[in-house]
Amino acid sequence: MTYKVRFVDMPKHYKSLRNEILAIVDEVLSRGDVILREDLRRFEEDFASFVGTRYAVGVNSGTDALFFSLRAAGVGSGDEVITVAHTFVATVAAIIHNRAVPVLVDVGKDFNMDMDKLEEAITPKTKAIVPVHLNGRLCDMKRLMSIAQRHNLIVIEDACQSLGARFRDKKAGSFGLTGCFSLYPFKMLGAFGDGGVVTTNDEELAEKIKLFRDHGQNRKTGDVLFYGFNSRLDNLQAAILSLKLKYLPRWIEKRRRVAEIYRKGLSDIPQLKLPHFSGEEYFDVYQNYVIRAERRDELVKFLGEKGIEVLISWPRPLHHHKGLNLRRFHLSETERISKEVVSLPMNTEIDNEQVEYVIECIRDFYSN
Ligand SMILES: Cc1ncc(COP(=O)(O)O)c(C=O)c1O
Repeated sequence: MTYKVRFVDMPKHYKSLRNEILAIVDEVLSRGDVILREDLRRFEEDFASFVGTRYAVGVNSGTDALFFSLRAAGVGSGDEVITVAHTFVATVAAIIHNRAVPVLVDVGKDFNMDMDKLEEAITPKTKAIVPVHLNGRLCDMKRLMSIAQRHNLIVIEDACQSLGARFRDKKAGSFGLTGCFSLYPFKMLGAFGDGGVVTTNDEELAEKIKLFRDHGQNRKTGDVLFYGFNSRLDNLQAAILSLKLKYLPRWIEKRRRVAEIYRKGLSDIPQLKLPHFSGEEYFDVYQNYVIRAERRDELVKFLGEKGIEVLISWPRPLHHHKGLNLRRFHLSETERISKEVVSLPMNTEIDNEQVEYVIECIRDFYSN
């Protein structure tokens, strides 16, 4: 099907950067620099400086960024790790693959971890918290960090959806022991394939993650220090990502402008709840523009017929998937949200007319 408004417009995105990307590909490949070379090192430096941490390490996905972070932090067998169910499955998979026990808590109205529920979930076995900054908005990091400090807990931020978002002038990924980012193509800073980054101020931890991603090899001495993994971020991808990172502040402003147009066009519809939450200390970047809608499934069908591509993240909460063995949790807000959420088209290529068309169709739907 050809959409009038795509959720993310990859061909248009590529076209806007085509000449610069092709020049980079030609330059890097002519040098023959493909694995762990200067372009990766430079990207890591640029990324760390953007986020505001001392180090950044490129890996092959946000999933591995989370998995390695927990492992490097010493989280292992039997440790409890608190996170949310209203997230992508990778957040919980990273805990499970470290043989730790996920403890899922409910979220609040802004889709992020409910801090009251976090405090109640802490037990003597709790070792870490993985706050998920969803849709381009940070969790309440003032409360979270003070709870973590009080209980001596490690914080690993799942910032896969919030590169560039701020809370009190600090960016996502600069609060915890590490920040974990995804460079999946649909993310604000997307690779042409998979990629991820770990940010940290801890030099030893950054070095450990560099070993994890490269089979535990110390390439200088030739020693293999332990059994590691193959999870390197491609040098060529890194070179292109450095280019994209320069555009990111502009892209964030564009997303915030699009969000504002949606707000103006939709805020008087009583059947909708829009993602404009209070709190002056928050700077949201709208990785996703997620509304809560009455008659959600009918609306999605209607928009599809009008040529508008939308996404539901997630129609069934993680703890309702049999295969994940999480059915012991009961999370009322998470369950409610899964029946109401829908993400509207949000990307840097979308034009005002397209946004207005989406608004017009939604208004049409609720006026009937
Ligand atoms: C909240 C969250 N956590 C983790 C991930 C995993 O990232 P990746 O797909 O790069 O492994 C994603 C990606 O969609 C995500 O949105």
